[in-house]
Amino acid sequence: MIDDIVKQLHPLPVASKLIIFGGGFTGQHVANACRALGNNALCSRRQKNSKGADFIFDSKNELSKAILDDATHVLSCIPPSIEGKDPLLQQVKSQLLNAKNLEWVGYLSTTGVYGDSQGAWVDESTTPKPKQDRSIRRLSCEKQWLETGLPVQILRLPGIYGPGRSAFENLLIRESKMIDKPGQVFSRIHIDDIAGAVLFLINLASQGNRPIIVNVADDLPSNNIEVLTFAANLAGKTLPKIEPFESAAKSMSPIALSFWQENRRVNNRLLCKKLGYNLIHPDFRFGIKDCFEQLKMN
Ligand SMILES: NC(=O)c1ccc[n+]([C@@H]2O[C@H](COP(=O)([O-])OP(=O)(O)OC[C@H]3O[C@@H](n4cnc5c(N)ncnc54)[C@H](OP(=O)(O)O)[C@@H]3O)[C@@H](O)[C@H]2O)c1
Repeated sequence: MIDDIVKQLHPLPVASKLIIFGGGFTGQHVANACRALGNNALCSRRQKNSKGADFIFDSKNELSKAILDDATHVLSCIPPSIEGKDPLLQQVKSQLLNAKNLEWVGYLSTTGVYGDSQGAWVDESTTPKPKQDRSIRRLSCEKQWLETGLPVQILRLPGIYGPGRSAFENLLIRESKMIDKPGQVFSRIHIDDIAGAVLFLINLASQGNRPIIVNVADDLPSNNIEVLTFAANLAGKTLPKIEPFESAAKSMSPIALSFWQENRRVNNRLLCKKLGYNLIHPDFRFGIKDCFEQLKMN
């Protein structure tokens, strides 16, 4: 919850203005947390009538010149284009380079860039070996950001979940199956901890500490059966049947299948031990309980 983020973080430096490009699931949460700390944040969406659209930005069109005036921090939550170009840089690079007060630029990337480690731990020093086309495009966007010479920090994220996008929706709406693939794990991160980590890293950068790449993952990579079982027990719902991966794979979409073809454990030691960020939801059990509490409130 936003309250938990506020409890453990300091406000951003005075007169900070955070501009978030791509105010979707994660972007909105970062903006709300930033505002709860008493700072100024604005989010873009592509359509005027979308929830939380503080300004309109679609990479097909120019950005209104005033948006980056006084911007001190920028966060991009926009995924790569199908050609592997970064949509924000394609349209706004020169405006970013000319933004006089810009101190920090965050780019939300994915841990998919590490490729398949066959269940081994990966950290920021692991050489990326992306296998999937989308991860190859992502790594290319990371490079495009780094080549700008802006004060860029890349946050690599595993599977994002939070209230409204969690095991409960999978169980209650999509009627997820319990797929059994021995040895398979997924790393995860709750949106509270993405927002918390973004704001924590901005503050750290203002003190001159800005590692270029930071994994933002929780402590406990785990398999889907554990997560769904925990959620189903909490909600008092009967467990779905367990289905072996080999038979489930036959009816999976190519995108779903691509996630099951990679197996890695994402190490968060840099963020949580060396830099000192305290996870609000250290593993899926904390995070799922939070999602359940918020489901009950709505
Ligand atoms: N979902 C995951 O598990 C996961 C895991 C690792 C990394 N990521 C990455 O982390 C980032 C945030 O994820 P999320 O799940 O919060 O994403 P999301 O809810 O899908 O939000 C993406 C945002 O990007 C905007 N956008 C997309 N294409 C655009 C374009 N061409 N021009 C302008 N805006 C554009 C969308 O605009 P509208 O609001 O108008 O739709 C939306 O606000 C994304 O880059 C995502 O790929 C996601």
